[in-house]
Amino acid sequence: MKIISDIQELRDHLRGQNRASFVPTMGNLHEGHLSLMRLARQHGDPVVASIFVNRLQFGPNEDFDSYPRTMQADIDKLEKEGVYILFAPTERDLYPQPQEYRVDPPQQLGDILEGEFRPGFFKGVCTVVLKLLSCVQPKVAVFGKKDYQQLMIIRQMTKQFALPVDIIPGETIRAQDGLALSSRNGYLSPDERAEAPQLQKLLQEVREQVLNLNVRDTSAIEQIEKDAIAKLTGRGWQPDYIAIRQRSDLAPSNNQSLEAGEPLVILTAAKLGKTRLIDNLEI
Ligand code: PAF
Repeated sequence: MKIISDIQELRDHLRGQNRASFVPTMGNLHEGHLSLMRLARQHGDPVVASIFVNRLQFGPNEDFDSYPRTMQADIDKLEKEGVYILFAPTERDLYPQPQEYRVDPPQQLGDILEGEFRPGFFKGVCTVVLKLLSCVQPKVAVFGKKDYQQLMIIRQMTKQFALPVDIIPGETIRAQDGLALSSRNGYLSPDERAEAPQLQKLLQEVREQVLNLNVRDTSAIEQIEKDAIAKLTGRGWQPDYIAIRQRSDLAPSNNQSLEAGEPLVILTAAKLGKTRLIDNLEI
């Protein structure tokens, strides 16, 4: 595997390759990331991965400094997966001048759910993803469904900018007890780790409740959300949101769309101790 930090060198290496697939990451790789590498290989060759902890997407009180950086272990894993190039720019490589031009996603998608609780997050994500796509120029790029809203926003961004890249969604990989794999799981204490799978269990209960509704209307949906928040709070979590939304645009459904059977997804973010976990489940 070639490890490259310089944008020009990356372009020189990829010259003439028009079938490359790309998996951007912030490192601290786990089985979820590796499954994205395998998916990337099915859609394009060579596989290019990136590791870059993107300061622009962290809020002032978030974990940019303490975000786990495990470069050598990550390199070993990527080599085993047969990744062709690891693009691992420094901040100087990727942002040689302050990044003043940024991509601002539309409020109705970028300022809800994660965007409401992490202001500026999606602006930082879109800006770095656009820049990484411009550096790698892949045919396809793979993003995990674990970050459901991020996947949707990036899809819309590439569509609106007519970028010549297909965005491929990768399924969430879970531990045996149901906890979605995440680099932030490493922050959990043993007790918190034992409690953490309850988040996915609750989403499954919420899904059952929605499926068993005699009348699917907005008040019933809101009641299910409220009950779920109360249940999680009762177990000692601090939920930011548990929201049952339309899959198409992540907006709350209305009675008409519910009656028409609009596909739904449940999204959640909640803190357990100091660790903020996110998860989702399609209905
Ligand atoms: O999902 C992530 O790891 C990051 O948000 C991404 C897409 C690599 C951008 O920094």
